[in-house]
Amino acid sequence: MSLFKKKTRVGDRPVPTHIAIVMDGNGRWAKKRGLPRTAGHKVGAEAFRTIANYAKSIGLKYLSVYTFSTENWKRSEEEVNAIMELLEKYLRELIRDMDKNRVRFCFFGDLSRLSPQLQEEARIAAKESEKYAGVQVNFCLNYGGRAEIIRAAKQFAQDCADGKCKPEELTEERFSDLMYSAGVPDPELVIRPGGELRTSNFLLWQSAYAEYYFTDVLWPDFGPKELEKAIAAYNGRNRRFGGAK
Ligand code: IPE
Ligand code: IPE
Ligand code: MG
Repeated sequence: MSLFKKKTRVGDRPVPTHIAIVMDGNGRWAKKRGLPRTAGHKVGAEAFRTIANYAKSIGLKYLSVYTFSTENWKRSEEEVNAIMELLEKYLRELIRDMDKNRVRFCFFGDLSRLSPQLQEEARIAAKESEKYAGVQVNFCLNYGGRAEIIRAAKQFAQDCADGKCKPEELTEERFSDLMYSAGVPDPELVIRPGGELRTSNFLLWQSAYAEYYFTDVLWPDFGPKELEKAIAAYNGRNRRFGGAK
């Protein structure tokens, strides 16, 4: 008999517990259509809505999405402002429709650099959605993998300096608990649409043994069918974790 409950399968395939996605390719999607980059971000936000609902329907437990990186501040002020405005609007709608969607929301990243309004919306979205037990969406917002590791290292060093622990007590588990993702299992599958073959500083610590899936499909065109393809590819992989199976 299968170890997987029916609802955690796509077709006859088991679904991973945690999938992480680099939502990339919005700008190129817009450019191809002669539209401003921000138009791509708008359609990208809709693609996210569809994927989050689909993730819920297949029984995925955690979905982490790279929304804005610590490096994305390098973009023009106009583009950054447009992305932030879209995020504010998106979070307002998300809070409004929360009871209907029943998705739990978490935020990974340094939110202190965001507008007070965005910070407040993120706080409300996280607090009010704590009660939902379905899929948990982790918005990686002003997130960078290296910044996250440095933050954890500083926290541990501070705890040592305060006499709460000793350097030799640091283990991988303990360090994981100092990440934004504390308590969330590592992603088994990291998906990057948009054609680039790199991590761009996404979940560096957590993805040590993740399976990667890259596709040229641009994020605004990435729908449930693409997610199914990624899961199918994942199920065809032989995960050895350094062993010799
Ligand atoms: C991803 O799409 C969205 C963000 C990084 C905020 P891009 O804006 O990077 O789109 P491309 O890669 O330029 O096509
Ligand atoms: C990664 O995409 C960040 C997000 C999707 C939020 P980028 O477009 O910023 O990555 P690079 O610049 O191609 O590495
Ligand atoms: Mg990009």
